[in-house]
Amino acid sequence: MSEKHATLSIEGQTYQLPLITGSEGDKAIDIRTLLRDTGYITLDSGYMNTGSCSSNITFLDGQKGILNYRGYAIEELAERCSFVEVAYLLLIGELPTRDELNSFRELLARYALIHEDMIHFFDHFPPNASPMSILSTMVNTLCNYYPEMSGESDEDMLPVAARLLSKIRTIAAFSYKKSVGHPLVYPRYDLSYCGNFLNMMFDKPVKPYVVLPEVVATLNKLLILHADHEQNCSTSTVRLVGSAGVNLYASISAGVSALWGPLHGGANQAVIEMLEAIHRDNNDFEKYIKKAKDPNDRFRLSGFGHRVYKTFDPRATIIKQACEQTLKALNVNDPLLEIAEKLEEIARNDDYFIKRNLYPNVDFYSGIIYRAMGIPTNMFTVMFAMGRLPGWISHWQEMMQDTTDRKIGRPRQIYTGPAKRPFVPLHERS
Ligand code: CMC
Repeated sequence: MSEKHATLSIEGQTYQLPLITGSEGDKAIDIRTLLRDTGYITLDSGYMNTGSCSSNITFLDGQKGILNYRGYAIEELAERCSFVEVAYLLLIGELPTRDELNSFRELLARYALIHEDMIHFFDHFPPNASPMSILSTMVNTLCNYYPEMSGESDEDMLPVAARLLSKIRTIAAFSYKKSVGHPLVYPRYDLSYCGNFLNMMFDKPVKPYVVLPEVVATLNKLLILHADHEQNCSTSTVRLVGSAGVNLYASISAGVSALWGPLHGGANQAVIEMLEAIHRDNNDFEKYIKKAKDPNDRFRLSGFGHRVYKTFDPRATIIKQACEQTLKALNVNDPLLEIAEKLEEIARNDDYFIKRNLYPNVDFYSGIIYRAMGIPTNMFTVMFAMGRLPGWISHWQEMMQDTTDRKIGRPRQIYTGPAKRPFVPLHERS
């Protein structure tokens, strides 16, 4: 037990609550015995101030704009690592040695196919089906085909994680190919994780795809920047669903659904739709800024603001730079980049956004890069899901392996409905 305490006084009684400090100095009041000791619960809609677990995976300081995976700064990982290395780091806790990385790559290559029967599933989605709905369904279905991959605690998690990481990439690319009615392109043993994905997306019998190293490098960077973000909505969902004892696939499938929302991962798609709308409106920025500031209008500037960051989102800084570089390298002139930059400039000089500490987040510039790579808008959130997968698996694994504090997730509430009243039989109801 901690030596430092907070003192809580309720109705003349005082209670001592232990104070907890994390390894980077983050502070918490431990209220785990609050209800038992005082009869009170805490009320915290949206979990603005609630720590749902202790975790040693990712550290985030929203005031200073710091993001570290397993102690390594995101800036360094994005610059110097591949996505596969970072996935290994998140899953195992250490950067891989050369041999460990090679074995992990081997596993990823070995598990890239999905069961041929699963391919028939794609035929039965309507042509306009959302790739996020397909992804969530297919990931859930994996547990029927690979029941041995349930991630029970006595299993070696690395092959389990490799299978899921590899198969999600194949599912994502197949869902795109089906949506455009093109023949499926199978994974290749000789290509890297990102190279393989791009090839499965864009190779055609009539026009072989050339995997460009610049595009592979940018995709690696994007996936790394999305790989984990501690207790965000989808990761918390994966943990909550998993806390009931549910298998890894069903838990991740729930995470995919949570990510779909425009306030979360769906924001990357919403940003592009917003920028396109501004473009169609002859760059009428004022109209959109006014709507975003209007408390009676549900419209918000997509890609702006964050629950935790009250300064620059460090991921956005890296992505903005990568965006300019990638468009230049690919010789793409996208008018949406100029619109995004102008919108950012206007918002960052506007009192409304300044007072509320609203800055561009990870989703603001990522879509422009995906467009330049040829990825369609409705696939953007699938890209986010592919990136976030190592984080989801690592959190699920951390929770499942926690032998001291693993609890089913079960928040409380304050009931505000009618107080107990007598039952009215049907014939007496008017
Ligand atoms: N545009 C206009 N106003 C905003 C925005 C925005 N994008 N974001 C927050 N605000 C205002 C909000 O209206 C509120 O104003 P007031 O105090 O007058 O009521 C204030 O700022 C605080 O906002 P909040 O809704 O209490 O903040 P939150 O922490 O609950 O929400 C958020 C965080 C990310 C959901 C929100 O900023 C938002 O809706 N942003 C747009 C969607 C988006 O870009 N989401 C991606 C987030 S980052 C990646 C990810 O998690 O997937």
